[in-house]
Amino acid sequence: MKKLQKLFDQNKAWVEKKLVKDEKVFETLSAGQSPKYLWIGCSDSRIPANEILGLEPGEVFVHRNVANLFPHTDFNCLSVLEYGINYLGIEHVIVCGHYGCGGVKAAMESSQLGLVDNWLRHIRDISANETKALEALSDPIEKYKKLVELNVVYQVLNVCHTTICQNAWANNKSLSVHGWVYDVSTGFLKDLDCCISSLEQVDKAYRTLEYKGQ
Ligand code: CO
Repeated sequence: MKKLQKLFDQNKAWVEKKLVKDEKVFETLSAGQSPKYLWIGCSDSRIPANEILGLEPGEVFVHRNVANLFPHTDFNCLSVLEYGINYLGIEHVIVCGHYGCGGVKAAMESSQLGLVDNWLRHIRDISANETKALEALSDPIEKYKKLVELNVVYQVLNVCHTTICQNAWANNKSLSVHGWVYDVSTGFLKDLDCCISSLEQVDKAYRTLEYKGQ
């Protein structure tokens, strides 16, 4: 049986480093978690949420999948969102895509990879809905970047259309859903300015609750 000894050694070194900084760190963490942020990002190995946000263990609840999708019928996504908002007290949901996303690229090409093509069908739907915006760009790299950004905006809307977010807003909980893009080539985050923070901002067609302000 092979053991990944190197990783265990690195883990030991990490524990020791943490304890030097704060000897009670694991004791504190074992008491529970109350992160304010939920990160919905891509599985891509170059984008570790805690690290790029400068956050410590316990500060960000994380859900990652190929191409940072949030299909409104996916119980994995829905469970994370509901648990995060209703039990952990998440106040900010961050959907973060990234330039150079292999999932988005695959959804732009006419070739099969396997099961993942069915998962990436969600991005092909966005592409089909947004032909005007995409065809306006002649540079294939710009088109690729645009689809990465559009995918984030669509997933932000998917999060906001859930009964989970709508109930949180109806109950006057503080909750904002943000859409960001990470640039693997620079390390910087970009805010797409598509943040939604109230039921009023949810398209009427998707409201499952009456908005009392209207
Ligand atoms: Co990706």
